[in-house]
Amino acid sequence: MMITLSQFIPKHLNTHNLPIDLGSVLETIVAACVRINGQVRQGALAGILGEAGTGNVQGEEQKKLDVIANRLLIDALKTNPAVAGLASEEENTFVACNKDGGYLVLFDPLDGSSNIDVNISVGTIFSILAKPEGALTTASFLQKGRDQAGGGYVLYGPQTQLVFTLKHGVFVFTLDEAGSFVQTLANPQVPEQTKEFAVNMSNQRHWFASMQQYIAELLAGDTGVRGKNYNMRWVASMVAEIHRILMRGGVFMYPQDRRNPVKPGKLRLMYEANPLSLVLEQAGGAAGNTVQDMLDIQPESLHQRVAVVMGSREEVEYVAKLHYE
Ligand code: AHG
Ligand code: MN
Ligand code: MN
Repeated sequence: MMITLSQFIPKHLNTHNLPIDLGSVLETIVAACVRINGQVRQGALAGILGEAGTGNVQGEEQKKLDVIANRLLIDALKTNPAVAGLASEEENTFVACNKDGGYLVLFDPLDGSSNIDVNISVGTIFSILAKPEGALTTASFLQKGRDQAGGGYVLYGPQTQLVFTLKHGVFVFTLDEAGSFVQTLANPQVPEQTKEFAVNMSNQRHWFASMQQYIAELLAGDTGVRGKNYNMRWVASMVAEIHRILMRGGVFMYPQDRRNPVKPGKLRLMYEANPLSLVLEQAGGAAGNTVQDMLDIQPESLHQRVAVVMGSREEVEYVAKLHYE
């Protein structure tokens, strides 16, 4: 299926003089995601559920679909001359692609893959960077989230949806029966206030004091200082969680905990936190690691972990305030 630039970049955005190559990189990512979607939809019918029997560089077990999704993205991106290099959650180091390319792509090929065998939403998260001048090294990728050229995700849920930003607002597309993405929403706005939070409560005893206090305040509901009752949701697919927050507000957290002082959280800055933070910020939401805006963090390594608090602005700012006190 042919995917054209105009399909993905609404006409009024062309007034921002978006480079044609950026559109082509986005198209390549999305075309690969359409293929990943086909595989995800097949599941057991294609014999591709379950463990791959391998581990990734981060010591995590890989699912067969983690490996398949990673391969489909790498193969597609390598054929696009505008892509100079890529980095994946599932690869040890970056992969050089095309010498004259102007862009770098970072991705989590399948987020939430522990959900894949039980038929719960998963997604692909991607970040696009302009390649700095000179030879391609790991340092070329270590750019602050704010410097991303664009980012977004494809959610393989009840509907397959593409959500992206090229820093001129957020666009939401839905995959139709013919295999084309059709724009179904422009510029969703994350409500500033919310009564819904998402956190893995089973880790509560490991959190630091400020996070303990924050969640205790939410659980106290209208009998506590927040003065309202909160609801909780936990999908265990960050990409699905962030999509819910984009659609109706909420706050998503994966806090740092005491177990491993050198690991400041579970989620990855470059493949998960940065692109999803860019989408939320473009939609009026906020994102941070409790002490700093996510998009201002200077990355030090490709697979860097980060504490995450993101979503409705009032809650993200409230958590940051608790951490200052
Ligand atoms: P991945 O499948 O790419 O490894 O990411 C899973 C992440 C994230 O999507 C989710 O929010 C979190 O891990 C789930 O963590 P728990 O296992 O603590 O529920
Ligand atoms: Mn992930
Ligand atoms: Mn993953």
